[in-house]
Parts: sequence; structure tokens; C-alpha cells
Amino acid sequence: MSINETPIKLEKFSFTENQLTIIWSDGRTSQLAAIWLRDHCQMPQSRDPVSGQRLLNITDIPVDIRIANVAQNDVMLVVDFAPDSHQSEFSISWLLDNCYCLNVQMDVRSESGKKLWQKSSFGGKLPRCNYDLFCDSPDSKQSALQSFKDFGFVILDDVPGNEGQVLKVINQFGFVRETNYGPLFEVRTKVDANNLAFTNLGLGCHLDNPYRDPVPGIQLLHCLQSSTTGGESILQDGFMAANILRDENPQHFETLCRQWINYRFQDTNTDLHSRVPMFETNDKNEIIKVRYNNRSIGTLKLDPDQVTEFYAAYRHYAEIIEREVLQIQFKLNPGELMMFDNTRVLHARNGYSKGGVRHLQGAYSDLDGLYSTLNTLKTKTLRLAD
Ligand SMILES: [Fe+2]
Repeated sequence: MSINETPIKLEKFSFTENQLTIIWSDGRTSQLAAIWLRDHCQMPQSRDPVSGQRLLNITDIPVDIRIANVAQNDVMLVVDFAPDSHQSEFSISWLLDNCYCLNVQMDVRSESGKKLWQKSSFGGKLPRCNYDLFCDSPDSKQSALQSFKDFGFVILDDVPGNEGQVLKVINQFGFVRETNYGPLFEVRTKVDANNLAFTNLGLGCHLDNPYRDPVPGIQLLHCLQSSTTGGESILQDGFMAANILRDENPQHFETLCRQWINYRFQDTNTDLHSRVPMFETNDKNEIIKVRYNNRSIGTLKLDPDQVTEFYAAYRHYAEIIEREVLQIQFKLNPGELMMFDNTRVLHARNGYSKGGVRHLQGAYSDLDGLYSTLNTLKTKTLRLAD
């Protein structure tokens, strides 16, 4: 709330057995079901006072729970329930902040919680943060993590050029997600590489590891050496591309949401399978995850009448992904580290010369740790502002 905003107050309330109705001073109305109120009781019998976690199961609440009385006591509403004679006190400010009528459930992972982008969105100025500031300044870290949340990527500058440094960067905001590649992986030309990523070939736009369950939510790539010709990095907003597909052909979008396909990775010691859709959506049909990796799609075993439709939709999305207006391209230089949301932002690289050295170290982390750090930093900032 800004300084000039008038605080919203409880204007009046009424109740029936099944529902509490509150009319707020700004004219809005909350209609709260008896079962919801009982389940959200904030009293010490219902919630652990330290952790705030629920102490009761849904089956502990009588199936015929109803409201027997509601009374206002200063800044509290006191609700008597029947038939269990339970009494709950709700602060009016808690009801305002938490009631389901006024507070739309925001899904920060979905397209509606993001700033979708294309090449022209940044005006040549990509989201970046100096690494020392990232480590030492909570404001800088919050701003960098917010960029990551909004755009799905951020670049850190002046990261020390030590081997293993990428793991220390992860420790600044979350936890390392170890895989069969180890805690980190080397990206440089290898003989008999088990993955095309470890050759000097160009790689088309993709998201990593759709064959894992769960897919690693964050990928980091730290440049240690780069003296080759080529090897530029490319990023692209997979949510934006999916939005364009939905606009251009809603049926193709639906097909990629509905049709589950197989992804696979196999080498001597590893054999990973998954069966998942290319687009994952939430209960509002908003995109929350994209999985796109042409190298890792396993043998497609679809219903015979779905094959042609799937390939048309898959091709359409692939064609959108190849549009240059949607891609940003830059050279990752020694000391730079890019981190991106591996459920949203596709990455690619141009092929590079055999002469010279290109050495990156990569690692994975998970989104929940990063979001937790960002939320905690925001809470501390708000407390300081109070
Ligand atoms: Fe990759």
C-alpha cells in the first residue's frame, strides 16, 4: 500500500450457517464458506504457533460444520462453529489479505507471472549483475534474481575464473542438483563424447534434460576460456514462442499440451526415460513448463491417428523457435556466467573452430531454492521499509 492509499476497513458483515459475508470499505465483498474458515483457523489448537503449520486434518472437521455466531471484537472477528463448539478469532487484516474472493491465486511459475520477451525487448541491454555485488549486496542479489524470475535468465559479470566456481555461485542462492554428469559438467570438445554438447558442433535451441524427473529447473554456464572463432550463445523465450504458436494455431498448441511423448538419454552407465508433454499447463491453461529437445526425443509411439497432427504441431513450434527476431545472441566471455530457467528459456550455440580453446563449466540447480531466496530477500526489504 502506498502512503496516499486509504486503508481498507471492514464496513459490515453478516452470516448464515454456511457463509460469512464481509463488505469492505472499498465496496468489494468477501464471501467465505464455513468449511474454509474452520480449515484456516489461526488459533493455537489448529496451527502450530511457531511454524504456522496446520495441526488438524480435514477429517477432524465435522462434515456438517457450520457457523453458529460471528461477533466483532475490535480488530478481530470471532467465529463460533457448530456442532463442535470451536471458536476461531480472525484478524480483519488477515481476512483482507487472505480471503479467496479478493486475492487471485498468482502462479509465479506460469506465463502470467513472467515478462515474455523477444530480441527487441532488451534494446541491447541484457539483464546483468556484477558478481561481487551479487554476493555482497542484498539489493543487487534481489534485483538479479528478480530479473531471472521475470525474463528467465541473468548474466553475472566478473565471476572468478576458478574451476568449480559455478558451484560456489549456486551456493549464493540455492543448492546444487547433482546428476549422472556429476556436480558439474565440462563443456569442451571431447573424443567420443556421450553428448553432442561436448563436441564443437552447433546446437539448436533446446532445453536440457527433458528425460529427467524432475527436470533441473536452472542451468548455469560459466565461461573459463574462449579463444575459438564462433561458439556464440543464443537464448530464446520458450513461453513467448508457445504464445505465438497458440495465436497462430490454437489446435497445434493444444496438441503439444495434450500429447505425451518419450524422452531418453542412454550411455554405458545411465538409461533415463520420461513420458511427458512438450508443454505443461496449469489449471488456468497457462504455460508453466516447456520441454523441447530434438536430440533427446525417444522413439515416438503415438496413437496412429495422432501422428500426423503431432508432427504438424511439433514442426510449427520448431519453425517459430528458429525465428531470429525471437533470439538474442551474444558471446559469453571468460569471467561471465549465464544462468537460465531450464523450464522456459531455450539455449543454443553456434558451432566453433577446432583451433583455440573454449571451456565452460556447467551445473544445475532447482527453481524452488532460487525463488525461496528471492522471497526471503523481498520480505526483509519490506520489513526494513516498515
Ligand atoms: Fe544444453
